[in-house]
Amino acid sequence: MNENTRIKTLAAATAHAWDAFVIVVGMLKGGTGKTTSAWFIALYYAVVLELPTLLLDADATSQSAYDWFKVAQAAGFEIPENLVVERYPFDDIAEYIRAEFGAIVVDAGGGSSRIFHEAVTEANLLLVPVAPTKIERRKLVATFDEAERAAARNERDVTAHVVLVKADDRTSLPRNAKDKLLQPAEGEGIGPDRDEPFPLAETTIHSWVHYMEAFGEIPTELSEYAELMKELTA
Ligand SMILES: Nc1ncnc2c1ncn2[C@@H]1O[C@H](COP(=O)(O)OP(=O)(O)O)[C@@H](O)[C@H]1O
Ligand SMILES: [Mg+2]
Repeated sequence: MNENTRIKTLAAATAHAWDAFVIVVGMLKGGTGKTTSAWFIALYYAVVLELPTLLLDADATSQSAYDWFKVAQAAGFEIPENLVVERYPFDDIAEYIRAEFGAIVVDAGGGSSRIFHEAVTEANLLLVPVAPTKIERRKLVATFDEAERAAARNERDVTAHVVLVKADDRTSLPRNAKDKLLQPAEGEGIGPDRDEPFPLAETTIHSWVHYMEAFGEIPTELSEYAELMKELTA
């Protein structure tokens, strides 16, 4: 990887020597791509940036990030030595934000606004993955409402981004979704009048079989998520 990027990212990751760079992947809806995103981002930090990385499964209902780890382990995949995967035992998430990790990626799940709120309170970066369909976008307003309440209690200058995932460029869906996110109709955006644009990341995660089949494996093709994290931590 580019040495400059590495140094910049390391600097961002260690800006406060006493704590880790915390990335929360959350959206108050199931099936949007949170667990897949959390795994690819954790692998990017562990394998590409070589940082001690914690992937925290905070999904109270399904714990698929942790299952992914167990399945990969049982299947004989080599788990990067500097990657730790833990289940969140539903007490204080802040206890996990430990100095020994350079990066902490939290899969906040989609079922609990309380856990989502608590995770965002500790985050440096909130990523909200959303597929380019109407039904997926509908929960964004509620997600950002909750994120804003949590951000008010956050002491880390958290920034939030929507990430378009499962984008198939052979269709008009990604283009339409981007338009709707950047020029929302009244009531479908953020801000006091709910008409302000969502902070959409430029990098798009495409709909790839690679992602659909990644569960229970340790994928090595991390390019799109690498691009995304470079964009958001530059
Ligand atoms: N970029 C992508 N392209 C295609 N399928 C994806 C992509 N990301 C996730 N998926 C698939 O979407 C489904 C839901 O993903 P998952 O990460 O489990 O979402 P969540 O954790 O939000 O419930 C899974 O079947 C997964 O394989
Ligand atoms: Mg999940």
